[in-house]
Amino acid sequence: MVDADTGAQLAVKDVSVFYGNFCAINHIDISVGAGEIVSIIGANGAGKSTLLKAIIGQADRVEGTISFAGDDIVGRSTKEIVASGIMLVPEGRRLFPSLTVEENLRLGWDVGRKGKGDIGFADIWKQFPVLDERRKQKAGLLSGGQQQMVALGRALLANPQLLLCDEISLGLAPLVVNELYALIPRIKARGIGILIVEQDIERSLAVADRFYCLLEGKVSLSGRPSEVSRDDVIKNYFGI
Ligand SMILES: Nc1ncnc2c1ncn2[C@@H]1O[C@H](COP(=O)(O)OP(=O)(O)OP(=O)(O)O)[C@@H](O)[C@H]1O
Ligand SMILES: [Mg+2]
Repeated sequence: MVDADTGAQLAVKDVSVFYGNFCAINHIDISVGAGEIVSIIGANGAGKSTLLKAIIGQADRVEGTISFAGDDIVGRSTKEIVASGIMLVPEGRRLFPSLTVEENLRLGWDVGRKGKGDIGFADIWKQFPVLDERRKQKAGLLSGGQQQMVALGRALLANPQLLLCDEISLGLAPLVVNELYALIPRIKARGIGILIVEQDIERSLAVADRFYCLLEGKVSLSGRPSEVSRDDVIKNYFGI
């Protein structure tokens, strides 16, 4: 099922998000097609994480429509939204440090999409052999890169149709980031749509089919990375 107006799997339509009276997202329209990689870029405070929180049902006050697979999900609980096929890899990973790698991963499996897709534990062990070796270790003892692998693995085990990634490269060594980003096209190849939030403009645009630039809660630029100049991106990223 797709959105009747846009034909997209996810359609954020005229959405505003508030913290008290403060409007962090201001009347934006964003869409993600099935199996499409869409990047959201923007400076600190632009509203990137707020947008993902609104989609996954963790924002206090959302106005507008967020259509997923043809249904408006505004007002639904995070649990319902996850069960319907959206999963978030949150900013800062949010693992349970005293649970083992395997226990953290299992949380994704347990909350996942009803009916499930085809991603199971064997896929995760194969994709991340280092997690297989450490599956009985406490997640808090892993390196930052390994913890990010757990966060991504946990999200994939929920078998989402749409994956939301919030700054998965933050604070990680470039080689580790390369390894994580190499997975993005492979996730797409399974037909999973991906909405990536990233401050690293180059990396974000390199992997995306389309992008949106947020500036103070509004879309300042959007399109295909190949269609815009670097100058345009910089201007709309910083608002100068
Ligand atoms: N819990 C909150 N209460 C009040 N204001 C908030 C809250 N969370 C975020 N904001 C404000 O909303 C705006 C958007 O924040 P958000 O975290 O979405 O930005 P971001 O683009 O993800 O930034 P960063 O790149 O630093 O992660 C900012 O002005 C921020 O100060
Ligand atoms: Mg953020």
